[in-house]
Amino acid sequence: MQAEYRQRRQKLMEKIGSGTAIFGSAPSAVMHHDVEYNFRQDSSFFYLTGFNETEAVAVLAPHHEEHKFVLFVRPKEPEKEVWSGIRTGVEGAKERYGADEVYPIAELNDKLPQYLQKADRIYYHFGRDRALNDTILKHWQRLMRVYPKTGTGPIAIQDSNTIIDSLRLVKSWAELELMRKAVAISVEAHNHAREFARPGRYEHEIQAEMEYIFRKYGALGPAYPSIIASGPNSCILHYVENNRQLQEKDLLLIDAGCSYGYYNADITRTFPVGGKFTPEQKIIYEIVLEAQKQAIAKVQPGKPYKEIHDTAVRVIVEGLMELGLLAGDIDEILKEEKYKPFYMHRTGHWLGLDVHDVGLYQRGEEPQNFQAGNIVTVEPGIYIGLETKPAEEQPEIPDRWRGIGVRIEDDILVTADGHEVLTQEVPKSIEAMEG
Ligand code: GLY
Ligand code: MN
Ligand code: MN
Repeated sequence: MQAEYRQRRQKLMEKIGSGTAIFGSAPSAVMHHDVEYNFRQDSSFFYLTGFNETEAVAVLAPHHEEHKFVLFVRPKEPEKEVWSGIRTGVEGAKERYGADEVYPIAELNDKLPQYLQKADRIYYHFGRDRALNDTILKHWQRLMRVYPKTGTGPIAIQDSNTIIDSLRLVKSWAELELMRKAVAISVEAHNHAREFARPGRYEHEIQAEMEYIFRKYGALGPAYPSIIASGPNSCILHYVENNRQLQEKDLLLIDAGCSYGYYNADITRTFPVGGKFTPEQKIIYEIVLEAQKQAIAKVQPGKPYKEIHDTAVRVIVEGLMELGLLAGDIDEILKEEKYKPFYMHRTGHWLGLDVHDVGLYQRGEEPQNFQAGNIVTVEPGIYIGLETKPAEEQPEIPDRWRGIGVRIEDDILVTADGHEVLTQEVPKSIEAMEG
């Protein structure tokens, strides 16, 4: 794995040329008082280093003669490690993480300037770590004060996301292995949940069954708060209370996936709790399924990302028009987004180290096109809430449609000649959902 991280740093260094890039680790986060959440490394920091501790900084300085990759880390402190876990320490980091030089984090201020003064640019993302933001600004300002005398130094700070995000957008084999593992565990959890759900069970019981499977197979846990939304809750996009009892006529919308080695799966299925769709539920389900299938077909290398949303929206609008839930001129409905009371989110997002992963969706006037190695979710839905109001001058919503929320979400890998539905082992046909 060290070779993989080295290769990623190499690619980044090729992009920054005579610049210096600085990446900070994630800060630790307080849950309450003096109790902390489990540590979760910053994704870009992890992508470049594999180093999984807080209070660390990575510096990439390709123009530096000896130290092209430098780490600042917490030194070993046995009396603290007894409480909060073993630290890698300065020596360990040098041995195990391939850095040319490693310093204790307390020396950041003193040691950083030597990696900046010959750089023509600093690459850094101003983020949550205020202290690091201040340190970098301070050094930059100092170097700019002497710039008239030296004529060298970093004349600009460029957001490092503009260079690392496009690397993260194309997954390597090593990343795909982890994605496949996250997907496999999540698939198992979804298939079990469908068997387990029945009238009388509570949403939280299903959540527990799924999250048990996540941990049992070595996932870190849910990739995001699991959404186990029955009946009208299926119309609340980020429903996370998960405390309702399932009823015979309910739909159950489950949006859940695990994080394995920091890579995330993101899967949604919607099925009838009692094993049989009502006629209205079935019609809505069929529209969403058709929208999803047509959108997935657009996931091809060289095709614009944007087409998946445009395709899904058109199928949904046509379907809702046929049901009399939307009326008028289809182009106007699309242009004025009159479908939004029923479909208010986008059809997908990049997926990887972050659930809503980094990377461009559009390049100004130009489209962002799919490339082999991208992973994208395709997740259209229709939500007719108990209180959904139609758009202006649109038909009233008959009660029989209310309380129906359907979303179907799969994770799609763009391949050299098309795509692969990574999550295809979770069925989604009408028959399977009723089975
Ligand atoms: N579960 C988050 C999403 O689907 O985007
Ligand atoms: Mn998603
Ligand atoms: Mn999801």
